[in-house]
Amino acid sequence: MLETNSKLKSEFVLKAVVLYKTCLADELKISEVPVPEVRQGWVLIKVKSFGLNHSELMMRAYEADAPYIKLPLIPGIECAGEIVDPSDSDFIKGQRVIALMGGMGRSFDGSYAEYTLVPSKNVFKVETTLGWEELAAIPESYYTAYGSLFESLQLKPEDTLLIRGGTSALGLSAIQLAKSVGATVVASTRNEKKREFLTGQDADNVLIDNGTIREQLLSLYPKGVNKVLELIGPATLLESAKLTRHSGIICSTGVLGEKGVLNNFDPIKDLPSGVYLTGFFSNYPTQAVIDEIFRLINKNNLYPTISKVFSLGEIGQAHSLMENNTANGKVIVKIQVNN
Ligand SMILES: NC(=O)c1ccc[n+]([C@@H]2O[C@H](COP(=O)([O-])OP(=O)(O)OC[C@H]3O[C@@H](n4cnc5c(N)ncnc54)[C@H](OP(=O)(O)O)[C@@H]3O)[C@@H](O)[C@H]2O)c1
Repeated sequence: MLETNSKLKSEFVLKAVVLYKTCLADELKISEVPVPEVRQGWVLIKVKSFGLNHSELMMRAYEADAPYIKLPLIPGIECAGEIVDPSDSDFIKGQRVIALMGGMGRSFDGSYAEYTLVPSKNVFKVETTLGWEELAAIPESYYTAYGSLFESLQLKPEDTLLIRGGTSALGLSAIQLAKSVGATVVASTRNEKKREFLTGQDADNVLIDNGTIREQLLSLYPKGVNKVLELIGPATLLESAKLTRHSGIICSTGVLGEKGVLNNFDPIKDLPSGVYLTGFFSNYPTQAVIDEIFRLINKNNLYPTISKVFSLGEIGQAHSLMENNTANGKVIVKIQVNN
């Protein structure tokens, strides 16, 4: 019924995961909430699948109680789905789209729901043969990987790239994209048992982040690497900078190490001379970049590495899998009838 009526009224309800305060993974619950009313500049999407992100774990576990987060909130910073109501946009009803960021699941309700209302500037058409589950693994991880690698790190085929936090969904996307242009990839994990997994993901070398990463890296590349994608963040950033060759670039994109800032940062003494430090923020996706990502995916037959697909009702299990660091891929939720 909902799909056939583009003027969805607020008396219709949808199923969604609603955060009322910070909570444990298994305390996440489904609620029924009104379908949001469409307004100018926003489009209504029927969510088919969405991927989970580390930032949603942080939101659920810590950030939701912060004064700048308005509760209750439907989390979820990305999704894949179909346009139900295009409002005043150029999208057409039934069009296959992805949506991400711009405040989704943070300053307004996000994608952990059957339907989501999103600013049309954060919604993008896609040229793909990927199914819904695979498509849902793309937006945030591949957009961030692409921006970090090609905008911030200016990655070239001749580069040797260290990805610190290589087993994260973002790290795995970055391995694929970097290999697709011919770069050499060194990926790190804290867990020796994941060495084989990362090799299977096409990493040229795997380092175990156990306090001896410097020795391991320099035994392979005595002069260091020339590009670093730092996903652990400020906790390991300065160590990574010292593994970077003169004229190399380090891009700090992640905060897996749960340290968001560099305290007492002294750029003169802490950064090796001639090493460039940059970052990447995925908040401003554009259709042009999304098109380029799908061009690379299609050309190289890339498939996202998916850990497991859950139903909306299994959201607690999905969050637990992400939280215990054993996912080894993107955790996906597929919206089904009777979620
Ligand atoms: N800048 C941006 O706009 C942007 C956009 C997207 C994501 N991010 C950030 O990028 C990072 C990756 O996101 P994701 O969703 O892909 O993550 P994810 O899939 O949830 O990452 C899981 C991996 O993180 C590693 N990990 C967990 N805690 C860690 C710790 N304390 N120290 C080191 N490694 C740890 C584990 O690796 P091992 O157990 O194998 O070591 C685990 O396999 C997050 O920090 C996220 O916030 C930033």
